Amino acid sequence: MSKIGDLWWVVAVVGLLVEDAWGITDARLVQGTNVNLGEALQFLREYDSEASRICHRVSSARWTYSTNMTDFNKRKMIEEQTLQAKFNKLSWKRTMTFDWTRLPDQMVRRQLKFLITNSRASLTDEKYNEIYHLISEMKDIYSHIRICPFNSQESLFCDLELEPDVVRIVGNSRNHMELAHVWREWHDKVGPPMKNKFMRYVQIANQAARMNGFLDAGEEMRYVYEEQNFEIEIAQTWASLQPLYRELFTYVRRKLLQFYGPFVVRPEGPLPAHLLGNVWAQDWSKIVDLVAPYPEFKTIDVTDEMLRQGFTPLRMFQMAEEFYTSLGLKPMPPEFWRFSMFEKPNDRKVQCTASAWDFCNQIDYRIKQCTEVNMDDLISTHHEMAHIQYYLHYSEQPYLYRDGANPGFHEGVSNAISLSVFNPVHLHRVGLFNENTDSYETNINFLMLMALKKVAFAPFAYLVDAWRYEIFQNGVQNMNAVWWELRLRYQGLIPPIPRTENHFDAAAKRHIPADIPYMKYYVALLLEFQIHSSMCFASGHVGPLHNCDIYRSREAGRVLSDLLKVGKARHWKEVIKMLTRGQSDRLSAEAMLQYFQPLMLWLKVQNRNETILVCNKQQNCV
Ligand SMILES: *[C@@H]1O[C@H](CO)[C@@H](O)[C@H](O)[C@H]1NC(C)=O
Ligand SMILES: *[C@@H]1O[C@H](CO)[C@@H](O)[C@H](O)[C@H]1NC(C)=O
Ligand SMILES: *[C@@H]1O[C@H](CO)[C@@H](O)[C@H](O)[C@H]1NC(C)=O
Ligand SMILES: [Zn+2]
Repeated sequence: MSKIGDLWWVVAVVGLLVEDAWGITDARLVQGTNVNLGEALQFLREYDSEASRICHRVSSARWTYSTNMTDFNKRKMIEEQTLQAKFNKLSWKRTMTFDWTRLPDQMVRRQLKFLITNSRASLTDEKYNEIYHLISEMKDIYSHIRICPFNSQESLFCDLELEPDVVRIVGNSRNHMELAHVWREWHDKVGPPMKNKFMRYVQIANQAARMNGFLDAGEEMRYVYEEQNFEIEIAQTWASLQPLYRELFTYVRRKLLQFYGPFVVRPEGPLPAHLLGNVWAQDWSKIVDLVAPYPEFKTIDVTDEMLRQGFTPLRMFQMAEEFYTSLGLKPMPPEFWRFSMFEKPNDRKVQCTASAWDFCNQIDYRIKQCTEVNMDDLISTHHEMAHIQYYLHYSEQPYLYRDGANPGFHEGVSNAISLSVFNPVHLHRVGLFNENTDSYETNINFLMLMALKKVAFAPFAYLVDAWRYEIFQNGVQNMNAVWWELRLRYQGLIPPIPRTENHFDAAAKRHIPADIPYMKYYVALLLEFQIHSSMCFASGHVGPLHNCDIYRSREAGRVLSDLLKVGKARHWKEVIKMLTRGQSDRLSAEAMLQYFQPLMLWLKVQNRNETILVCNKQQNCV
């Protein structure tokens, strides 16, 4: 860091207590002395055009690499990213000259606040590079883990990768010995090699946060939600979801007990984490065959019908576009159709994860997806295109506002759309599903499948960052024990084999080593149902929420576009207030509970002979 950089600590002042409309105190954050509004406006104008230009270069380079993975393209991408990191650091330093909480313009304050919340920019170059390298080393370790198959005696065959191999085995195998083996292999190989690196990472991240006036890096992670009581508010939403989760858990436990027997599943205890069809036990839909309420009624799948009708990837994208235009939203721009990657090319290596891209120049928007003709990819096509709708709607906003209202909004919106699309009523309307959608059994089967994806995900989505907040606050001693305490308390899960502090099981989830926040997925889950419910109300839907399809509703489209065009220009509580027609400004589990209400009633009947409590020690775990 330069000499000028070091001065900012000297000019740090603890100013007047400044509370914005939502009661957030920013005053203890470190800041400078300049209160000249003209200079701040000038700085933000320059920032806006330069940041957009650099963002365009970085996303172009990332696109080139992701769709053509050569060493050359990777080098180019890293060069651009390095330039962007330098620019961010410089912008942070310039922002630090302003006493932004005292500038008399709300929009200026808001933008400067977003710029300042990047505490790692305050690290010395040496430490900044160190934490950057720690993270990329941990990501590297994660992506290079290979595990041995169940039957192999020789390490020669230890070449199973997380994707697709481990994910596939955990999803499809019904042999608990094999599942335990794979669980052990993955967790034992991924955690220990990065444990020390992670501990050092925690130390540096905390230093950076504290230098900027935060208590620790966890408080900084929560700060982006601009809500002092954020932790309390989301804890309340979890408390209201918990009864539904308990019922689901209890029912699934009985089914697993029936299948695996009492030596594997304890009738009244927590569940071992390896039997739920997912490496992290965060999505249980792969074991739907073991738990389907009415197995004789088929679960909805329109893949065969799509094939019969001769669908192509292009037609799937056209169909998704028509969904949005039917709401009165925007068609995809010409550049989208010209430059997107709809199919996996066979002349080069590409990253196949579906993603939606904003090239930051208000012209170029693309989707990259290795589309195959099946139902999952049809849903995914609509999901990704919702991200593009968001980009298009906030494209006129300044650079710093071109984002979701909080980190959960982008996924929340896209998943809310998916609730209308992966929906028997909708698939019937678009001519893909012609069976009777009205029977009670089909509806309960459908809701069970959704619950295995969404309700099962809630406690996991919540606890990943609950763990990180605790580690940043209380330190890394016992961090594996803390991980399992939270897994037990929220998910009701225990490890299938004993664990010690030599293990580092949180690292089994990529977002931990990769330094990617996770609470946004929990927030997105709540928002998904809040947004769905509001759009359904606007469309005049009557009846159960899971049968609501907003297709062709201009009124629902208006609710959606009003939300999208705000971007991040306003506090997300104002956006929720708008969404709920002034009724509430809170994140809430109510809409989600309403969606699953018919299943909840069904589960209660199923569980009436069961002990719902599943804890061993504290009696308050699940
Ligand atoms: C992939 O990138 C390389 C540069 O590393 C380039 O020479 C090649 O033409 C690219 N292939 C395609 C199909 O764009
Ligand atoms: C191990 O299992 C794999 C499939 O999971 C099979 O292809 C392979 O032949 C088996 N090897 C042995 C030694 O049984
Ligand atoms: C609960 O117990 C009663 C009486 O023992 C039995 O008749 C009923 O089938 C049980 N219900 C379920 C869902 O197992
Ligand atoms: Zn998404």
